[in-house]
Order: sequence, then structure tokens, then C-alpha cells
Amino acid sequence: MTSYKELGLVNTREIFAKAVKGGYAIPAYNFNNMEQMQAIISACVETKSPVILQVSKGARDYANINLLRNMAKGATEYAHELGYDIPIVLHLDHGDSFETCKDCIDNGFSSVMIDGSSLPYDENVALTKKVVEYAHQFDVTVEGELGVLAGIEDEVQAEVSHYTQPSEVIDFVSKTGVDSLAISIGTSHGAFKFTAEQCTRNADGILVPPPLRFDILKEIEKKLPGFPIVLHGSSSVPQEYVKIINEYGGKLKDSVGIPEEQLREAAKSAVCKINIDSDGRLAMTAMIRKYLAEHPDVFDPRKYLSPARDALKKMYMHKNIDVLGSAGKA
Ligand code: G3H
Ligand code: 13P
Ligand code: ZN
Repeated sequence: MTSYKELGLVNTREIFAKAVKGGYAIPAYNFNNMEQMQAIISACVETKSPVILQVSKGARDYANINLLRNMAKGATEYAHELGYDIPIVLHLDHGDSFETCKDCIDNGFSSVMIDGSSLPYDENVALTKKVVEYAHQFDVTVEGELGVLAGIEDEVQAEVSHYTQPSEVIDFVSKTGVDSLAISIGTSHGAFKFTAEQCTRNADGILVPPPLRFDILKEIEKKLPGFPIVLHGSSSVPQEYVKIINEYGGKLKDSVGIPEEQLREAAKSAVCKINIDSDGRLAMTAMIRKYLAEHPDVFDPRKYLSPARDALKKMYMHKNIDVLGSAGKA
């Protein structure tokens, strides 16, 4: 058993309370490898932002939990070496079972999500409560989910979204004891969040998605004043990176994300954690494709991963400063 406290990590309790009060959101960036981790930490140190390092089940399978735990420990030391000790959370994204959550808690994670959102309500309550009871013994915080996002949630794929029902949130939070609640108000996972039919097109032919359901968010906030709310599926799908990918051999058609202004708006509310994975994938893929196409003689991964890492860092800094408002809050 490794406690996250030995690794220099924190749980989400205090940083969420501050974020809800301060009208900003903490970035939850997914990572699977060293370059993503370096970019996240250097961007968050430079902008003095707290950060949630987010590990999906897919990332655990890809990277190995022992390596991930030690990378998170390394992240706290790296931040210190860069000159500023920001709060760092190691969080399980979309935990699918009690066993997965327990394994992460026992392996140094400071926060876990149990995603019972695809289960019938009572089963979601029972499973989430079981995880909370275990996690809280070790001062690990837990995120639950009500409502279903469209797109791919790790290995669970949903065709359509089901918005969170505000009438359920008080009962769910009080019965389970969760520390934060992920809700569904129109975001979705991946780089194709809406079909072309669901969108309008602006003058440049770029798809404009339907607005988030701020009315549902407001109702939830009324029911749970000051309670930490989480938004999944919050990549903005920057068209500059989609364009580079397509220019250099990729085929991403009609990709569309959540406009930054809407995320900024959400961050001012009780939304205190915003999940971003796909944008990192796009930035990295764009820069690697471009570099390799322009340098066909290069076969040193450091050469093509460096510009990818630089682009990631720039993008994360922009999000912390201009979208989430978390810059300067560490
Ligand atoms: O919510 C899903 C995340 O984007 C993780 O995706 O399972 O492919 O790592 P992944
Ligand atoms: P995106 O696919 O929009 O980046 O969402 C990531 C996410 O919600 C991870 O849990
Ligand atoms: Zn998610």
C-alpha cells in the first residue's frame, strides 16, 4: 500500500473548495507518457496552476500503474525543481469497478472516479457508496457521475447523451457521500462531439455546436449550493491542429469541440474540474505528422517529440490562463 501523501500529492478537497469560491476550474489533463507529463507540469508550474493528472483505464493498461505512480512522484519533484510547488492530484478517470478504484487507491492515487453512470440509478448509488467508503478511510476523494455523455468514455460507448436530471442530484450525493459530481449538460468525449446535422456552420464553413445546457447546470447548482461539479468531454478541438493533421496526411473530417467561451462561462460556476484529453492528442499528432513529413530523414524520437511537447505546453498554458482561469491560483 502506497499513500499518495508519501508521493507529495494532494486530494481534491481543498483545491475544489477554493475553485468553487474563486470562480475558476482546475484542469484535469489526461496523460499516458513522459512527454505529456512534462508538458502538463511545466505549463502548470509556469502559470502557477493546480493540476489534476488524469489516468484512464486505457492509460493504466498502456503505461503500467507502477510507472504511472512513480511518474506522478517525479512530477512533484519536477515542479519543485522548476521552482514552484503546485498542488498535484493523481486521479483515476472513469473507474469502472470497485476493484479498479481500490487498486488505484492502494497504489498512490489521491482521487478516483467511479463511473456508474451507465448503470441503473440504484446500482450506481450502491457502487459509488462502496468506493467512497473505502476511499475515505485513506483520505482519497471520489468523483461520481450522473447522466450519460455521448461518445467514448474509455471503453464504454454511448450513441446519445442523457442529461443529468437535477431532481436526482441531492439524493445521489447524500446517499453516496461523493466529493464531486460529474454531470452531463451537452459535452461529449472525443474529437467529434456533434454530428454536422446537430451544428450550424459559420461564415468560414466551420461547424458551430449547439450551446451547453446552462439551464440544467443552474438547476443543479441551486440543489447543491457550493458542491463541486465536474465537466467531462471538454476539449475544444482546436481547428489549427485539425488543419495541420489534415494537411500532413490525416483524415479528420467535421471534428468539433466545445467553444472556449462556454467553458470559461462554466468555470465561473460550481464547475471546478474540466477534463481535457482529446486536445492533447490533436496537438501532439499534428506536430509529429508535420515534423516527420518535413524531415523524412529523421528517426530520433526526441526530434519529433520535442515540438509536440512544446505545442502541448503552449496549449495547456493558454487553457489555464484564458479558459479555465486557474492560472495564478496555486
Ligand atoms: O474519457 C476518456 C478519456 O479520453 C480516456 O480515453 O481510454 O482512450 O485513454 P482512453
Ligand atoms: P475530451 O475527449 O473532450 O478531451 O474529454 C476527456 C475526458 O472527459 C476524460 O475523462
Ligand atoms: Zn470523461
